[in-house]
Amino acid sequence: MSHNLLKGKRGIIFGALDENSIAWKTAERVHEEGGTFVLTNAPVAMRMGQIKDLAEKTGSQIIPADATSVEDLENLIEQSMEILGGKIDFVLHSIGMSVNLRKGNHYTSQNYDWTQKGTDVSAMSFHKVMQTLYQKDAMNEWGSIVALTYMASQRVFPDYNDMADNKAMLESIARSFGYFFGRDKKVRVNTISQSPTPTTAGSGVKGFDGFISYADKMSPLGNATALDCANYTITMFSDLTRKVTLQNLFHDGGFSNMGVSDDVMETFTRDK
Ligand SMILES: NC(=O)c1ccc[n+]([C@@H]2O[C@H](COP(=O)([O-])OP(=O)(O)OC[C@H]3O[C@@H](n4cnc5c(N)ncnc54)[C@H](O)[C@@H]3O)[C@@H](O)[C@H]2O)c1
Repeated sequence: MSHNLLKGKRGIIFGALDENSIAWKTAERVHEEGGTFVLTNAPVAMRMGQIKDLAEKTGSQIIPADATSVEDLENLIEQSMEILGGKIDFVLHSIGMSVNLRKGNHYTSQNYDWTQKGTDVSAMSFHKVMQTLYQKDAMNEWGSIVALTYMASQRVFPDYNDMADNKAMLESIARSFGYFFGRDKKVRVNTISQSPTPTTAGSGVKGFDGFISYADKMSPLGNATALDCANYTITMFSDLTRKVTLQNLFHDGGFSNMGVSDDVMETFTRDK
């Protein structure tokens, strides 16, 4: 269902890998709402090819960029403004990766080169994206920048590994850069703290199935899906949320304010 919420708006969407990706669903919804955008991902993700289908479907162009490379980001932002015909109104940072997690290194046994790589990809890249946009004066006034995060930034989820620290940094960067972007360019910056979601990045977390059903049972509305997240993100890109900035916005069916739910209690009391 379209409300034309993003008619005439131009954007850049990072992180659509396959049709499960939160960024993929967001691109589809932005398209339905009348927005135009450039799709981007790391060159290695491009080779897997699926992003081309999304580009065709949404009439968009793809520009490869490693989000840890300022040079790639400069090129991406310049080309995007040319392709889209003007400054940018919305940006989605939907990027996350931990090498330690992927290779099965426990949090108490890190390979610090990998830790650093994960921080660069998952958190510092957000600063790099914003600094490049800011220095090039590439954002329109009342534009909106959103990055995706997870609750492990603020509470302990043991298997989330070093991604927890990366997300804490990501959320801090949103506030710190959001101040300057708001003050100087009237641009808002927020993070959306999403429920566990079955995607490539999500499923890399050890014990993900248990994780996802626990969150579902704890949340009065159940887990938010990738499509739910896309819908929320659309509102954050629209003119209906112009004064929301520097926030970490929970989009989790209520999980973040729960202590315990009847469903979860039941699994501990049923034998008594
Ligand atoms: N899936 C979940 O449970 C969940 C929950 C909360 C938040 N998130 C966050 O949502 C975002 C999107 O993840 P997803 O779940 O859709 O998984 P995904 O695997 O589909 O997306 C992650 C993306 O990051 C991209 N990426 C990795 N390294 C990159 C680099 N150097 N440069 C540019 N792009 C790079 C990947 O190619 C991929 O497209 C991430 O920030 C993730 O942490 C996910």
